[in-house]
Amino acid sequence: MTHRAGKGTGREPVGKKTPDNKAAVGDTGSGAEAEAVSVLKRELQEKITSLTEANRQLKRKIFDLYTIFEISRNFNAVLDYHQLLDTFMYTSLAQVGASKAAVYLERGRRDGVFLVAKHKGSGDFPADEAAFNSGTVLVDYLTRLNRPALTGDLMGEIANEVERGILEKFHPGLVVPLIFRSRLGGLLLISEKISNREFSMDDIEFLSILGNKISVAIENTRLYEAENRASQQLRAAQEQLVHSERLAALGEMSAKVAHEINNPLGIIKNYILLIRKAAGENEETVGYAEILSQEIERIARIVKELLDFHRPKGIEFQKVDVALILNDVLLLMERQMENKRIRLDRRYEPDCPKVEGSPESLKQVFLNIVINAFDVMSTGGTLGISVSCDEDEVVIRFNDTGPGIPPEIIPRIFEPFFTTKEPGKGTGLGLSVCYGIIRQHDGSITYRNTDDGGCFEVRLPAVRAVG
Ligand SMILES: Nc1ncnc2c1ncn2[C@@H]1O[C@H](COP(=O)(O)OP(=O)(O)O)[C@@H](O)[C@H]1O
Ligand SMILES: [Mg+2]
Repeated sequence: MTHRAGKGTGREPVGKKTPDNKAAVGDTGSGAEAEAVSVLKRELQEKITSLTEANRQLKRKIFDLYTIFEISRNFNAVLDYHQLLDTFMYTSLAQVGASKAAVYLERGRRDGVFLVAKHKGSGDFPADEAAFNSGTVLVDYLTRLNRPALTGDLMGEIANEVERGILEKFHPGLVVPLIFRSRLGGLLLISEKISNREFSMDDIEFLSILGNKISVAIENTRLYEAENRASQQLRAAQEQLVHSERLAALGEMSAKVAHEINNPLGIIKNYILLIRKAAGENEETVGYAEILSQEIERIARIVKELLDFHRPKGIEFQKVDVALILNDVLLLMERQMENKRIRLDRRYEPDCPKVEGSPESLKQVFLNIVINAFDVMSTGGTLGISVSCDEDEVVIRFNDTGPGIPPEIIPRIFEPFFTTKEPGKGTGLGLSVCYGIIRQHDGSITYRNTDDGGCFEVRLPAVRAVG
C-alpha cells in the first residue's frame, strides 16, 4: 500500500499527512522530499536485493563448506584409492552439475606421466593412452596457478597437441590441478555444465578447495598402499628365510642319514656277491640276488644324490662362463631333444661377466633343471634358455611350455624327496641338490609359473671386472 501511494504522488500538496502509519511517512512532504524518499526507497530496494543475493551466496558457501567438510572427513577415512576417486568425482560432478569428468594421475612410480585413472559421466572420452607429461608448458602453468582453469584459456597457446586433444573432449570445461606440497599429483577435468550456464566463482572455489583436499587424501592412500606392499614384502622375505633354513636343515639331516647308510650299503653289496657265488647254478637264487643288487643300486644312487646335496665345503671354485656350461649340458641332451620334439630357444646376452663357481656342480644344476623340463614336456614344447646380466648378478632363466606347478606345491619342490612323479621315476632329490649347490655359490634359485608354462631362475653373483 505504501508502495502504490508513493508512486507518482510527488505533486500532492505539501503538509497533507496521511493519518496512516509511520512507514508511509515518505508519502507526505514536498516534491523534493518525495523525490528523496523515492531515491531512498530505490536504494533500499537495491540493498535488499543485494543482501538477498549475498544471503543466497552465503548459504551456498555454507553448503559448499559443509560438503567439503563432510567429504574430506570421508576422504581421510577412506584408504581405498578407487573408492576415494569415485567419491571425489561424483561429488565434483554433482556439485557443479557437469555431465562428465576424468581424473589423470601418475601410475605406480612417479614418472611424471599422468594417465586417466578414472572417468565418469556420459559422452566421448579421450583415448586411454593420451597423457599429460610433467615439464610441459601446460603442466608447469597449472602447477604454478594452483587453481582451476578454463579449458578455453588453456587450449590456445599453452597446451601442446596431445594435451589439446584431451582438453577438447571436456571443452568448454575446467581443469583442476591437484597439488600436493607444491607438486602436481594429478588433474581433474570437468566438462561444461548440464544447464549450459557458465561456471560460477563458487564452482571454481569449490573445486579448488576439493582439489586440495583430494590431493592430500590420494597421497595418504598411496602411502598406505606402499606401506602395505612393504610389509607384504617383508613377510614374504621372512617366510623365504624360514623356508631356506628349513631346507638347509632338511638337507643336512638327509646328508647325515645318507652317510650312515653308505657304510652298511657297501657291506650288503659284498654279501650279495658272496650269495651269488654260493648260489652256483641255482637260477632262482641268482635271480633273487639280481633283484637285490638292482634295488641296492637304486639306494646307492639316492644316497649319492643326497651326499651331493651337502658336499663338503671347499669344492674347487674358478671363474666360469655360464653360457659355455649351458652349451655343454645341452649337447648332452641333444638326442633326447630330437626324440621328444622339443625346440630350443637360446638367448645369451653378449659380454656377460663370469661367475665364481664349480663347473661340475653348475653343470649338475642345469642338467637337473633341463631334465625336469623335458619330463613335463612329454608331447613336445619349447625350452627357452636365457642368460642376462643384472647389476651384479648373472641371471639364467629356463622357460618351459609344460603345465606349470600348482601354486600350493611350489613351496615344496626344493625339499628333498618331494616328487610328483610315479614311484621309480623320480627321487625328488634333483631340485634339492640344485638348491644346495646354488646356495654354496651364494646365489638363488626360484620358480614361478608363467603364461604358458614354468620358469626356473638361477641368479649367481657376477665376478667384477678388475680395475
Ligand atoms: N619344469 C617343471 N615343470 C613342472 N613341474 C616341475 C618342473 N620341475 C620340477 N617340477 C616339479 O618338482 C618336483 C621335484 O623335482 P625334482 O626335485 O627334480 O624331483 P624329481 O624330478 O625326481 O621329481 C617334480 O616332481 C615336479 O613335480
Ligand atoms: Mg628331477
